[in-house]
Amino acid sequence: MPVSKSFEERLHKSLPQIIEKFGTPFHIYDGPGIHDTLRDMKETFRLRNLSFKEFYAVKALPKPAIMEIIKDEQCGFDCSSIPELRLARNAGAKPEDIMFTANNVKKGEFREALDHGGCIMNLDGIEYIPKLEALCREITRPFPELICFRLNPGTRKTGDSVNSIIGNPVDAKYGVPIEDIVEAYRAIQKIAEQQTNQDRKKQRYGLHTMVCSNDRDYTHMVATYRLLLEVAAQLKKELGIELEFVNVGGGLGIPYRPGDTAFDLKAFADECYKLTMAFAQEHGYAPAIFMESGRYVTGPHGVLINRVINVFKKYKNYVGIEVAMPALMRVGMYPTSAYHHCILLNPDGSPIEEGSRPIIKVTIVGSICENCDVLARDVEMPEPREGDLIMTCDTGAHGSAMCFNYNGRERIQELLEGFYGNVRRICRAETYDDLDIRHQGLEGQEHRLKVSNN
Ligand SMILES: Cc1ncc(COP(=O)(O)O)c(C=O)c1O
Repeated sequence: MPVSKSFEERLHKSLPQIIEKFGTPFHIYDGPGIHDTLRDMKETFRLRNLSFKEFYAVKALPKPAIMEIIKDEQCGFDCSSIPELRLARNAGAKPEDIMFTANNVKKGEFREALDHGGCIMNLDGIEYIPKLEALCREITRPFPELICFRLNPGTRKTGDSVNSIIGNPVDAKYGVPIEDIVEAYRAIQKIAEQQTNQDRKKQRYGLHTMVCSNDRDYTHMVATYRLLLEVAAQLKKELGIELEFVNVGGGLGIPYRPGDTAFDLKAFADECYKLTMAFAQEHGYAPAIFMESGRYVTGPHGVLINRVINVFKKYKNYVGIEVAMPALMRVGMYPTSAYHHCILLNPDGSPIEEGSRPIIKVTIVGSICENCDVLARDVEMPEPREGDLIMTCDTGAHGSAMCFNYNGRERIQELLEGFYGNVRRICRAETYDDLDIRHQGLEGQEHRLKVSNN
């Protein structure tokens, strides 16, 4: 698409000034656009009288300035690591604004999740129950009051099998197998019974799953919600548990290609309404609906701006830009599925006038010593010239977050356009010193060992 018309129009006007001040390359994010998407999500569910909360998947764009927007919109944060937990807490997230969804979890990560009042603990397996219990005892903390399990639906998989993030669930490392899910909650009930702390309120529960990625078919998400409600019904019947929420995960797709249809959130919410009403009628209560989208919230609200530095021909036409994969690795990493629309602009950021240049097929490449260092393969565009700009769309999620330093390439700066034309740098470019610092200060004995060879 996919950059919104409003952001594109603003950029056409503001790019010359932004480039003069900040130089290129950069990612730039559309603050008002992110606000609008979050408001639209909340309003969509509110209008259907559904209790809903978005927990933004911090991994998609882990920047303090972005977290502020999420917080402003009273959304929560889905965190999967210590840095993500810290970012969320630094943004002012309260314990129940944080869903800790990690896998292959280290003890230190649980420790961090339990600190500062804790958070919603989403366990990825039954094996973590005794470990978490032991840790709570060791650090004299009550067992978390609100526990959730990530469900692996196994052969009862829902949704699109091609695009699924966990592939075939029976081959996935994630979640509690559906056959074990009742036992997982039963184990928590047992722990809760043993909690002697008088102040402790009753044990509370949620249920989570995440079975797809970048899926624009809302019916797949409906199938996921339906499955979670089926498990909720089973938990009520077998254990008397009433879940506070079911979390359908992230994975909502966005239209990366021109002509792609968007995820139909309203149709999804309509179906959720019907399923929720039927569930409430049968079971006398209904859990809230949680989501943890990353891509859907920020993906369309970011673009990457690059200067064309070389135009060359081998067996194909190549456009060499300042940075490709180290600023956006998705196209290189998923050669058959990922696409980011690239728009050629005049050197001052204005649009290329239609018909003013021949249309040619180009591959847009960066400078690292890997042939997969591309932003676009064999795409048609007006013939680029050195000095032009390339705007790569939809870089607001899983873009800068996946940056890397191969070939000693420094990560690039990131800017945020706020309201009333205010643009600010929210993350500076890395410098050589940033890369070198980890090689410095290693003279002390704590960095040395004399091994004995016998
Ligand atoms: C557990 C979990 N939740 C949420 C997300 C966010 O996914 P998306 O950005 O596609 O919505 C991911 C992505 O990897 C994930 O692993």
